[in-house]
Order: sequence, then structure tokens, then C-alpha cells
Amino acid sequence: MALPRHVAIIMDGNGRWARKRLLPRVAGHRAGVTPVRVCIEQCVRQDIAALTLFAFSSENWARPPEEVGSLMGLFLDALDREIDELQSNGVRLRFIGERHNLSQVLQQRISSAESRTAGNSRLALQIAVSYGGRWDLVEAARLLAQRCAAGTLLPQDIDESLLSSTLSVSDLPDPDLFIRTGGEQRISNFLLWNLAYTELYFTDQLWPDFDAASFQIALDWFASRNRRFGLTGEQAGAGS
Ligand code: IPE
Ligand code: IPE
Ligand code: MG
Repeated sequence: MALPRHVAIIMDGNGRWARKRLLPRVAGHRAGVTPVRVCIEQCVRQDIAALTLFAFSSENWARPPEEVGSLMGLFLDALDREIDELQSNGVRLRFIGERHNLSQVLQQRISSAESRTAGNSRLALQIAVSYGGRWDLVEAARLLAQRCAAGTLLPQDIDESLLSSTLSVSDLPDPDLFIRTGGEQRISNFLLWNLAYTELYFTDQLWPDFDAASFQIALDWFASRNRRFGLTGEQAGAGS
């Protein structure tokens, strides 16, 4: 069965999960930690090399300050609680996003988690926090422009592979499988460049309800896809 090398997930629906239970939205975010753990374990168990999770978008900063504050607190707690387990499972943890917007303490905790797990190779786990696909592209453009201005790069030498290697996720294959829970069928400023040829899977299930069986259903769906990358079905070996 064809397995994705890289899975990217928009973990959506926490607020609605809480509202259905007459709970505050933060209860939904808290309940969303378990499926994160489950997906990480599934990737490790099934030898999926990379997992990228969208936890907080550039646009999410505009939510009510209490919700933003509790999400940041939750990231800090979850990091403290899970780091030993991640380390023992051979997970290399990295954060992608505009991290100078995060509190000093969260930035420090992130840096130390990243250096502690840097030597691991079982699973490359990216957590996107304060991340936007447009931000990522703008950062890359700025970096390349600086190199041109400094005379170390010629504009005509900028190509897809150079731009790609300047983005936040540069050392991994593009996601093969994208999963979005919560019923919306949109990208919401996630990995805009990297999702160019990704298979897009949407489910109405709310993120806190997403479990190992749900993850397996998405993997089975992926295995049934016929990826052509612009070729004809015959060229791409359809039906073979
Ligand atoms: C996803 O759940 C988590 C974040 C965006 C931080 P939501 O909080 O967007 O949940 P809904 O979409 O309101 O149900
Ligand atoms: C996308 O969810 C961002 C994350 C899950 C972190 P949103 O709930 O913010 O997306 P929209 O607003 O429905 O597009
Ligand atoms: Mg949402």
C-alpha cells in the first residue's frame, strides 16, 4: 500500500467541538492535544517520515486575547509534558512560523526542545505556530533579495529549487497527503508552495474526535489516489 512520506494536517474544529458540549472554546483546544499525540504515534509506528501540524495561523492572532492567551499557555504545557516522550520515540521537533511574535519563555522552550531532539531521525515533526504560507514566501523573497543586493546571488539564478530551499520546510519532501478536519474545504494560508501537488483529504470530523481509525481512513484514501503530476494516466502508470 502506498504510504505518504509526509503528512500535513490542519487541525480544525476545536471550538465547535466545545460548543456542542456547552464548554468554553479552550476546552476544545485542550481536547485537541490527544489526537496530536495519536497522529505522532501513528506516523512513528507506520514509518511515515514527516508530519507537519498547523496549530496557530498568522490570522489566528486576531482572535479574542483570552483565547490566544490560553492557546499559548496550552502550547507551553503540552511542550513540557510531551518532550520526554517525543525524545524517546526518536522524534525531531521543529517549529515553523514567525517566532519572534511568541512570548520569550515560549521561544526559549521551543529552542531547547528543538536542540534536544535535533539528532533524532525517526519522525520529522513540524509544528506551525504563528505560521502563514504567505509569510513564508515573503520571508524567502526577502532573503533572496538580500543576497542579490549583497552581490552573492544573481536574479537569473533564482529558480524553483532555490526558492523551495529558502522556505521554512526545506529539507523534506513536499506533503503527499494533506488532511483537514472540521468540514471546511480550504487551505487557510497553510503551506501554500509545498501543497502544489499534495492529495487533499477533507473530513467533517472535528479535530478532538480524530483518532487512530480516522487517520487510517485518510491513509487508505491516499493509497487509492492516482497521482499524475501533470502526465497522462498512461504515462503515470494508471491502473498498474
Ligand atoms: C482549530 O480549531 C484550532 C486553531 C485554529 C487554533 P478552531 O478553534 O478553529 O475551531 P473552530 O473552527 O472554531 O471549530
Ligand atoms: C486554520 O483554522 C488554522 C489552524 C487550524 C491552526 P482556522 O479555523 O483558523 O481557519 P478558517 O478561519 O476557518 O479558514
Ligand atoms: Mg477553525
